[in-house]
Amino acid sequence: MTRLIVLAVLVAAATAFSSVAGAQIKDDYSNKVFVGRQVFLTYGCGQCHSVGPKGNTKGPLDDVGSRLSVDELKGWILNPAEMTTKTKATRQPPCKKAKLNDEEVEGLLIYLQAQKKK
Ligand code: HEC
Repeated sequence: MTRLIVLAVLVAAATAFSSVAGAQIKDDYSNKVFVGRQVFLTYGCGQCHSVGPKGNTKGPLDDVGSRLSVDELKGWILNPAEMTTKTKATRQPPCKKAKLNDEEVEGLLIYLQAQKKK
């Protein structure tokens, strides 16, 4: 009987813990998407790109998460000049690099990955 109670307590504790951990992972992801959205809005990406109705619709990024790989997205964030050459992009002015810290780069990458055609 005691064994059964101990088992029940352990199961309850494990369940409670895993749902807390799950919520934290989800919060962390939402935070990163939020940071990425802020970076997009504050670092001038919108001068040349749009997400939804916001920004320059000549360079829509709405489905960029489906079209480009993570490495390609990273390339556009960290080394746009190289990506411009690689993809032979002709639109002017060319993609501009923003001065971002690691957290901003990560957020932006996650935000861009989340832009998928619904
Ligand atoms: C001065 C204009 C300009 C700015 C500012 C700019 N870009 Fe770009 N970007 C371009 C151009 C031009 C291309 C080439 C593809 C095209 O013609 O849309 C491009 C391409 C891209 C691509 C690949 C798009 C695709 O459809 O394959 C991504 C992703 C991207 N930029 C992200 C960003 C982000 C994030 C920022 C802000 C940190 C930014 N860009 C700022 C002009 C700009």
